[in-house]
Amino acid sequence: SSTSTDETKAAKKMTLLDNASNFLTNFLSGGNIGPMPIAEGAVSDLFGKPLFFSLYDWFIEHGSVYKLAFGPKAFIVVSDPIVARYILRENAFSYDKGVLADILEPIMGKGLIPADLDTWKQRRRVIAPGFHSLYLEAMAKVFTDCSVRMTKKFDNILDEMASKGENKIELDLEAEFSSLALDIIGLGVFNYDFGSVSKESPVIKAVYGTLFEAEHRSTFYIPYWKIPLANWLVPRQRKFQNDLKVINDCLDGLIQNAKETREEADVEKLQQRDYLNIKDASLLRFLVDMRGVDADDRQLRDDLMTMLIAGHETTAAVLTWAVFLLAQNPAKMKKAQAEIDSVLGQGRTTFESIKKLEYLRLIVVESLRLFPQPPLLIRRSLKPDKLPGGYNGDKDGYSIPAGSDIFISVYNLHRSPYFWDNPNDFEPERFQVQKSSEVEGWAGFDPSRSPGALYPNEVISDFAFLPFGGGPRKCVGDQFALMESTVALAMLLQKFDVNLRGSPDSVELVTGATIHTKNGLWCQLRKRPSDSH
Ligand code: HEM
Repeated sequence: SSTSTDETKAAKKMTLLDNASNFLTNFLSGGNIGPMPIAEGAVSDLFGKPLFFSLYDWFIEHGSVYKLAFGPKAFIVVSDPIVARYILRENAFSYDKGVLADILEPIMGKGLIPADLDTWKQRRRVIAPGFHSLYLEAMAKVFTDCSVRMTKKFDNILDEMASKGENKIELDLEAEFSSLALDIIGLGVFNYDFGSVSKESPVIKAVYGTLFEAEHRSTFYIPYWKIPLANWLVPRQRKFQNDLKVINDCLDGLIQNAKETREEADVEKLQQRDYLNIKDASLLRFLVDMRGVDADDRQLRDDLMTMLIAGHETTAAVLTWAVFLLAQNPAKMKKAQAEIDSVLGQGRTTFESIKKLEYLRLIVVESLRLFPQPPLLIRRSLKPDKLPGGYNGDKDGYSIPAGSDIFISVYNLHRSPYFWDNPNDFEPERFQVQKSSEVEGWAGFDPSRSPGALYPNEVISDFAFLPFGGGPRKCVGDQFALMESTVALAMLLQKFDVNLRGSPDSVELVTGATIHTKNGLWCQLRKRPSDSH
């Protein structure tokens, strides 16, 4: 159409301008820039398919650091472990969350994800110790209880169907995993049982409304200037404000309650409580009881809201894609079930048994490799910087001006043909193989760099695999989420055989903050024959 031709022309014009200003900036800052390759995005790239697919094609075409020009806006796209390591770890404090902080601040306030550096430093020091090993042990029980509540529900429906002569049920497992993850995060973070696996409530509806809005806003990091805002922003804002108020009232009540029952103690003492037997093992309890830290109610609420959002859809997405991948690989599904049978029999998962479910743990990380949540990490440079030379395309590295917006494409890194064999194949076993590096500046895969790690991580892979980011802003909930996913998968596959209802191609991807399906992950569940375990 003529509109899209105009848009393309306008985009080209802006790109030219942008190139000129980029050249000037680099010239003035004395950067030794060989000009960064430029991918020109058309507006249609944003709507036809998920953006990270296009970012991948341009990565193969332009190399591991390129500039993406979209109309008046430009982003530097990084698909390189050496450059990612530099931005996330070596020079982490020269970058902030840029566009992402602007989007999330109205929801998460000064929670860890969007927080300014000062607030972040204070709160990270207090929150990270909350994920200590006795807490995780208590959580393993919560993960199991909630997962069993979900499988019992499926079991009951299957029993009903059996009386009608049917031996299977069809379910949208993505929706079920979302409820499960919500129940778990509520209990783990503020000892509140949403009970969403079995019911709906105004608070649950408000959480979904808020998540939807957070998700929607996250898709705006590029096309926000394209949207005719005024028409729908107002009713939408009103609904959003109402949803936020419902959740905030709920969180405020929980915070008041926790403060009224405060039992102050030093961190070391708090970490030694009898977590398996106390009534409230939540993170909120820990944060309120910590001696010498007087967070105001607003800060606590921001912290809780951030963890609620950060820990909910992400984990649900890991489970969704793990099932999607397993269903297409029946031999691996069988191998997983054989491991579950031999480790657990008919029993439940425990903190100890997670350590024995090795194949299941690798399935979780392999699912995160193929479907990282979120697929892009977002940063903005606070001052001019010189990026190190990357793997391909730019050996010397580029100088970038202050205010540069950067996407680290975890999706590209995780599927990079330069660092992975058969990058698009689902092969959990790949993590069992140590790999030395042929790439200058990259240390290869070596588990001994992270002794005792239950799950492969960014240190073992020297930033070729970074499902939870890396450096100081790395996810605080990584072990929580990994164990939760392992337990939920184990409890599901112990009881049921799972197939996709339609073809894998019919499961369309969409993305916002996480990668999810367009219309749900519709699966068929059958009870496993009792002689198979
Ligand atoms: C940060 C992924 C679960 C809390 C992050 C980051 C990633 C990530 C990639 C880094 C973002 C960046 O550098 O820009 C995931 C995935 C999860 C998960 C894939 C599930 C599979 C959780 C859970 C919690 C949580 C369960 C809390 C209970 C946080 C927080 C941050 C964060 C608070 C910000 C950390 C900081 O800036 O200091 N997450 N996360 N996440 N995550 Fe997670």
